[in-house]
Amino acid sequence: MRGTALTWTKAGVFVLCLVPLLRLGVLAFTWGLGANPIAFVLHSLGTWTLVLLLVTLSVTPVRRLTGWNSLIRLRRMLGLFAFFYACLHFLTYVGIDQFFDWHTIVADIAKRPYITVGFASFLLLIPLAVTSTNAMQRRLGGKRWQRLHRLVYVAAAGGVVHYLWLVKKDMTQPVIYGLLLVLLLGMRLAWRFARPAPGVMVNRPPA
Ligand code: HEM
Repeated sequence: MRGTALTWTKAGVFVLCLVPLLRLGVLAFTWGLGANPIAFVLHSLGTWTLVLLLVTLSVTPVRRLTGWNSLIRLRRMLGLFAFFYACLHFLTYVGIDQFFDWHTIVADIAKRPYITVGFASFLLLIPLAVTSTNAMQRRLGGKRWQRLHRLVYVAAAGGVVHYLWLVKKDMTQPVIYGLLLVLLLGMRLAWRFARPAPGVMVNRPPA
């Protein structure tokens, strides 16, 4: 995929990534957020953070399985959208759910395990977003940059644990996310110990 096709694909993915936010905006203006709008928004933003983290992590496996190498050019944007939704999720909790009551927020982070894990995952995503530019990649050097960016697996695992911990009854959804993450990580590990697939550039830096 080159030139115009790539630009259009990127633009399409960009718009698609904004759909969950636009949907929340529309629902907010049409009184469609249900009886507990704060919980609805919090849950929606949390879910999209996790979904986008998993989509970002599936870029390399899908690329290897299909040989569609230019997919890598979407990875940074997907990762940054995951971070964007994580920021909105966190800000919804801090600003709308807790009304910037820092005392309660700090106590929640310290004492409620699912919030502790969610917060830790969020913190892990910050250095990844900051170093996502080409300039930072060059500054860190390919190897160090790659090592740092493996933290995304820890952040995604934290996101799954956060979800598992907060769910009271039906565990189906967090378990599905967890299994997908195990599958994605398992594929990477399997490939790490196998030969690179022919015609596929391994660990090519994102554009
Ligand atoms: C990478 C970071 C994070 C991910 C992937 C994530 C993901 C999620 C998911 C999937 C849900 C449940 C959605 C549902 O029920 O459908 C959720 C709920 C929630 N998250 Fe997060 N989250 C993250 C970070 C945080 C942080 C930093 C905080 C606050 C400090 C936080 C606070 C909450 C709260 C309060 C809920 C709702 C809990 C309830 O229903 O009682 N999350 N999050």
